[in-house]
Amino acid sequence: MSTSLPYFAEWPQINSAVLKDEAIEAEVVAILAQMTLEEKVGQMIQPNLLEVTPAEAKQYKLGSLLNGGGAWPNNNKHSTAQDWVNAADDYWKALEEAYEGRGFRIPFMWATDAVHGHNNVYRATVFPHNIGLGAANNPELIKRIGQATAEEVSVTGLDWTFAPTVASPRDYRWGRVYEGYSEDPEIIYSFAGKMVEGLQGGSTGLKGQRNVISNVKHWVGDGGTLEGEDRGENHYSEEYLRNIHATGYFSGLDAGAQVVMSSFNSWHDEANYDLNEDSGAAVYNYKLHGSKYLLNDILKDRMGFDGLIVTDWNGQGELDGCTAANCPEAVNAGNDVFMVTSRSDWQAFYHNVISQVNNGTISMARIDDAVTRILRVKMRANLWEKPKPSMRELAGNDSILGSDAHRAIARQAVSESLVLLKNEEGILPLSNNKSYLVLGSAANSIQKQTGGWSLTWQGDGNTIGADFPGASTFLMAIREQVGTENVYTDASSAPDDTIAIVVIGEDPYAEMFGDIKANQTLEFASLKSSYASDSSIVQTMKNAGREVVTIFYSGRPLYVNEEINNSNAFVAAWLPGTEAGGITDVLFAKSGADFKGRLSYSWPMKKCSTTINRHAPNIEGYVTPAMEQDIEGEHKPLFPYGYGLAYLSSDTQGVEYNLDDLPLDERNLGCGVDEPDTGVAAINLEIFGPSESGEFDPRIAGEANNWTAFEVDRGSVTSIDALTVTPINYLHQQDAVKLEFGNSLAEIFFETIDGGPSDQNAYLNADSTLQFDIQLLSAAPSSMRLRADCEYPCTGEVDISTALPSVRVEGDAEWDTIKVPLSCLAENGTEFSLVDKVFLLQSADPVSLNLGNVRYVPRSLDEAADALSCEDI
Ligand code: BGC
Ligand code: BGC
Repeated sequence: MSTSLPYFAEWPQINSAVLKDEAIEAEVVAILAQMTLEEKVGQMIQPNLLEVTPAEAKQYKLGSLLNGGGAWPNNNKHSTAQDWVNAADDYWKALEEAYEGRGFRIPFMWATDAVHGHNNVYRATVFPHNIGLGAANNPELIKRIGQATAEEVSVTGLDWTFAPTVASPRDYRWGRVYEGYSEDPEIIYSFAGKMVEGLQGGSTGLKGQRNVISNVKHWVGDGGTLEGEDRGENHYSEEYLRNIHATGYFSGLDAGAQVVMSSFNSWHDEANYDLNEDSGAAVYNYKLHGSKYLLNDILKDRMGFDGLIVTDWNGQGELDGCTAANCPEAVNAGNDVFMVTSRSDWQAFYHNVISQVNNGTISMARIDDAVTRILRVKMRANLWEKPKPSMRELAGNDSILGSDAHRAIARQAVSESLVLLKNEEGILPLSNNKSYLVLGSAANSIQKQTGGWSLTWQGDGNTIGADFPGASTFLMAIREQVGTENVYTDASSAPDDTIAIVVIGEDPYAEMFGDIKANQTLEFASLKSSYASDSSIVQTMKNAGREVVTIFYSGRPLYVNEEINNSNAFVAAWLPGTEAGGITDVLFAKSGADFKGRLSYSWPMKKCSTTINRHAPNIEGYVTPAMEQDIEGEHKPLFPYGYGLAYLSSDTQGVEYNLDDLPLDERNLGCGVDEPDTGVAAINLEIFGPSESGEFDPRIAGEANNWTAFEVDRGSVTSIDALTVTPINYLHQQDAVKLEFGNSLAEIFFETIDGGPSDQNAYLNADSTLQFDIQLLSAAPSSMRLRADCEYPCTGEVDISTALPSVRVEGDAEWDTIKVPLSCLAENGTEFSLVDKVFLLQSADPVSLNLGNVRYVPRSLDEAADALSCEDI
């Protein structure tokens, strides 16, 4: 396959490496003819592991399951390869039994997000996220990573990975930028096919036992949403949708990828009308999951894709008028497999689809198309011949999971992904015969190194010792390189001339949790107060007269002019994964190693240069779309696409700035805000929930534990003596919590990341209410209090026990919203210019409740007639 990117005047015809096989087609027809409607619908449903037992899979004759981010067998993060294989066996056997006596069988399959290695699995090799691989720009290496990942997945007995992501992320505010190889279609086009080849191994590999089904996602335009909002609106023209956002499908499907995942975003274009409607008018909210035009007419009919389309996690529920459990429109639009993740939803969805076929809302032909595709993919993967998961070639083979050979590939990928942005007076490479002072919150942080989608969905709650045996942080790697005795971690004990290596970077995040909000900018130091502390380490080291090498971990380019000015050398290391030795190899030029990485995303000069993409070279007369910025003028990148320094070349690639004295952008408004903040907040402060800003961490504490605060794990249960917190799904997955208080005083609170004060006076000035959504599951004891603290004992509290709604039964779809004026808390003592705990809920007696969507809402006192009055509380 040619790697140079052509211009696509039309949607191209796929020329798949996995050819149509007449024997398979005949066999599929024969099986389909014997299937009942119920059996067909069962094939179309894919629940989450935690929400389906083997017995249920058998009862409903399900076709597949997925384990979502942070879902492991037995809910055990440290499940071994054998545990995974045993679980895979259980479901596989259940489905064999389900078809006993039917005269035919349909093997089960299991899908996972192996998106940078087999990242949900303990001890797996974790490769750099795609943004780093894009900088490495080595398609052959991509193929080897795909092969290694497929082998690790095969070790656990699974069949299908939701990878690769082939998005072209255009706006750096999007929380999924790091999942894309590049802002530009060129690298994506040259990588997608290689990754699919590596994962799936062509038509022969797919039949074997060392490869897995590959899945290009998210069709289509996810990287082009307005203002980088996750699940947002794409307004690109069809020509640009095709040539900027779809090229990864062209090469990935040519390489034989058998699955395409629908995307959460919408596409606002006349062509995307609902063609089911005679009126031709847009009758739904343009979401891809409902786009018959893009799913059926373009992908299946025009491009000739003959594999299956899977929905994204309850994506059908995002269509106007739909819920996760009920959406015939999404079936009719052309989705074949439905990730309906929760037990109550998938069971309802099953019954709904059956009645919708019976009453003619969905045609039998549509169901047959879906099931034909599912059986075809299963047959191409040879599932009828493969033994049960535990009997497969690599099953349970612990020596392959996180093997030295795979870690070596990852280490090479890390080395090749590093982009050297600045190297003043050749401070790099470093010498082996010196001592180093290693600082910064990321230096020994496996979570910052691996990012989201690493053992847990958000990539948080992980530590190197307990969760990543065999991995190496930067601190471990440099100790290995120069000897522990030559590494200081405390500035006061390091001699004055010791070079400081400061490793800083973003906390892990996935999906919408990583979106940069309207009131924020790309300025690293202002995103979180803990990031500001990291930046000030760089500054302090420079002020102390030390030479400084800064290593920057991030899921996207960010505004770091000040940190660059204060560093002698600056390395963009992206989200490198488990093998930090790949960084020291290059810093110390081990065996002549040099920097090979080149930016696959343009680097911003200004705080709000959010959408500064290179003009796609294959599009003649490229016209900048309205949502992109003028890269010739005000938003000219600091470092252009393709930039990257090297030891062996002194080429500065046209960058003329003095990198010791970059101008600082004085903007102090969020990129989504036009007017200066007059001290009156205008937009919500999102504290906890689907669009939270990430500025606050959920923590719990209690008397029985001497008020020691524990971080709430966003992916699994967190428990202290008198309080248990379980993540639950509310507006999005895992965006709310169930709280079970016990017999002694305990509390949950949302606190600034570093525990320091934050100024929220603008919210008090704006007559805001503190709002939260709740389902009270048992009667509220009189000891319940709501507080906001300004560094305890500075606090203001109200008695919320009498103001809570009536008790609901668990599973009820309705929630209640409580609105407490900030002024009531202020009257009782909260100093809003100094709040650390922006919300705190406490009880001394048993009570259960679900809590989500916690926010401060400006100007809601007058409008919200239903706000509580201070007398009520
Ligand atoms: C993500 C997908 C992922 C799926 C299953 C969704 O929330 O958007 O990328 O494959 O979850 O984990
Ligand atoms: C504080 C504790 C205090 C407790 C009592 C907590 O928020 O951190 O120090 O004893 O509240 O309510």
